[in-house]
Amino acid sequence: MVKRNPTQFLVDEYKKIQAEGREWVHRKLETPSVPEVVVDGKKLLMLCSNNYLNLSNHPHLKKRALEAVEQLGVGSGSVRAIAGNMAIHEEWEQKHAEFKEQEAAVVFMSGFIANEGAIPPLVRKDDFIISDELNHGSIIDGVRLTKTQKLIYKHCDMGELEKRLQEVDKADPNGEKRILVITDGVFSMDGDMAPLDEIQKLCEEYGAMIYVDDAHGDGVLGKDKKGKGIVDHFGLQGKVHVELNTYSKAMGVIGGAITGSKDLAMYLKNTARSYLLSGSHPPSVAGAAIGALEVLNPKSKHFEPVVAKLLDNCGYFKKEIVNIGFNHEITAAAAKCPTAIVPVICGENDVARKMSDRLMEEGIFALPIVFPMVPRGTARIRVMMNAGLSKEQLDMALGKFENIGRELKIF
Ligand SMILES: Cc1ncc(COP(=O)(O)O)c(C=O)c1O
Repeated sequence: MVKRNPTQFLVDEYKKIQAEGREWVHRKLETPSVPEVVVDGKKLLMLCSNNYLNLSNHPHLKKRALEAVEQLGVGSGSVRAIAGNMAIHEEWEQKHAEFKEQEAAVVFMSGFIANEGAIPPLVRKDDFIISDELNHGSIIDGVRLTKTQKLIYKHCDMGELEKRLQEVDKADPNGEKRILVITDGVFSMDGDMAPLDEIQKLCEEYGAMIYVDDAHGDGVLGKDKKGKGIVDHFGLQGKVHVELNTYSKAMGVIGGAITGSKDLAMYLKNTARSYLLSGSHPPSVAGAAIGALEVLNPKSKHFEPVVAKLLDNCGYFKKEIVNIGFNHEITAAAAKCPTAIVPVICGENDVARKMSDRLMEEGIFALPIVFPMVPRGTARIRVMMNAGLSKEQLDMALGKFENIGRELKIF
């Protein structure tokens, strides 16, 4: 019998990852996630957290979390469908649906888990999913769990989406199959937005379900600086069948939600495996999440204009970063979107890596995103804006970007 080492591959593969420069070196955050942090012992300005509204260390959310621990303990004891359906989970879902101006919501452990759980029950074997080529990995994994036919359209290309819909229509002339069109609302690498109004029109025309992942639009986009998300931005309440939301980004906590009709919620509560087979959130998470919704609710006594502050910061930083000279078309396009993601294009991988290292030396925490995560030649520093950053902090950061950008001959 051959002598096998069953775990040798772990050593070999990890070495390969390191040798190819693909390792995710984990930095250690020694403070709460706030604008000024200590990372690996160094004081830095945080520019790469998804904590857009600066709520993760907010006193009201912490108070709500602590009250929930005091009253309800630290764990729920079960999955929702058996014995872990606490009143506080239902309150969270109800308040979330109200915030989104939809009928109902189902809360999952995280946005990733919600995509993995919600997509498979929506389609059967041989139905159709049509997906934007740049959709998030959790959508891709959710789609992979289905046995349906998968079609891709070029990023935000409505002509291509229509072609895919026509192909599907031709293949199913009696309209017996389900069609599910899935898109990110805000794309996490470029900070651009899906043309959800056009997608919705096409879906209506072809009788397709529409599913939008609003992970980066929650708490950011929407009318009157209310942060209700991309559906509200386009005024499409009631017309988008499935919306995915997350509490791990702007809301500052953790948790995913699928939002839509009561029918959708009840169906998923009985079919989504990652909902049915995974324990429910600790009460503290639900409490903090409800706290976040209160901070965003203009009718609540806990309301604070954090969305307006975030949008001011986004507008200022995006305009100035382009003015400085980071005027690649991707950066310039993102500057026109009211999103909190700023792709500061540097060029080749080594330039973006060097930029990040130099920023870190100069007191800025902003990480590079490199090929193959983004197309070759568009390696970037992905800045995530934050409502808690002051004008002085933004100006300090912009000054460092300018100096280091010149030093590295980016412009
Ligand atoms: C577009 C998108 N969808 C879903 C997720 C997953 O969200 P969560 O952090 O809640 O698992 C992310 C997180 O990076 C995301 O960017």
